[in-house]
Amino acid sequence: MEKILIVYHSQSGNTKAAAENVAEGAKQARAKVTVKEALRATVKDLLSCDAIAVGTPDYFSYMAGGLKDFFDRTYYPTQGSVTDKPCGIFVTHGGGGKAVESVKNICATFKFKVIGKPVLIKDRPDKEAITQLVNLGKLLTQTAKQQK
Ligand SMILES: Cc1cc2nc3c(=O)[nH]c(=O)nc-3n(C[C@H](O)[C@H](O)[C@H](O)COP(=O)(O)O)c2cc1C
Repeated sequence: MEKILIVYHSQSGNTKAAAENVAEGAKQARAKVTVKEALRATVKDLLSCDAIAVGTPDYFSYMAGGLKDFFDRTYYPTQGSVTDKPCGIFVTHGGGGKAVESVKNICATFKFKVIGKPVLIKDRPDKEAITQLVNLGKLLTQTAKQQK
C-alpha cells in the first residue's frame, strides 16, 4: 500500500479543505494517507512516504510561513534521500496565485519529481477544483505505485 503524505498550511480553512480533497483522491486509489499541518510535519514523515503533496495559501505572492518552516527543517536531513519522490502542489489564493512559483522552486531544489500541474484554487475549492484535487491524489498514488 502506497504511503501518501499531505502537508499543508491553512489559516482560514481553504487550503485545509483542498488538502482533504487530495487525501480523498489518494484514498480512492487505496493509498495509506497521512494529512499533516506543516508546522507539525517531520523529517521522518517525509522520509517514510512514497509520495508527498504540499499545499499553501498565497501570502504576499509567496508560500505561507508554515510550509516554508517545513521545508527549512527538512532540507538538510533529507538531502539525497528524496530525489525523484513524486510530489503534487496545490495553492489557494485570493485572485493572484504567484506563490506557486516559490513552491515549485523549492520542490526543484529538493529534487522532487513534480507530478501533474500545480492546482491553483481561488478561495475555497469549488466543484471543478475538487475534481482536480481528487485527481491529483489519485495520480500521486498511481505514480508512487509505478515507481516502487
Ligand atoms: C496575510 C495574507 C496575505 C495574502 N496575500 C495574498 C496574495 O498576495 N495574493 C493572493 O492571491 N491572495 C492573498 N491572500 C489571500 C489568501 O491566499 C487566500 O484567502 C487563501 O485561500 C487563504 O487560505 P487559507 O484559508 O487556507 O488560510 C492573502 C491572505 C493573507 C491572510
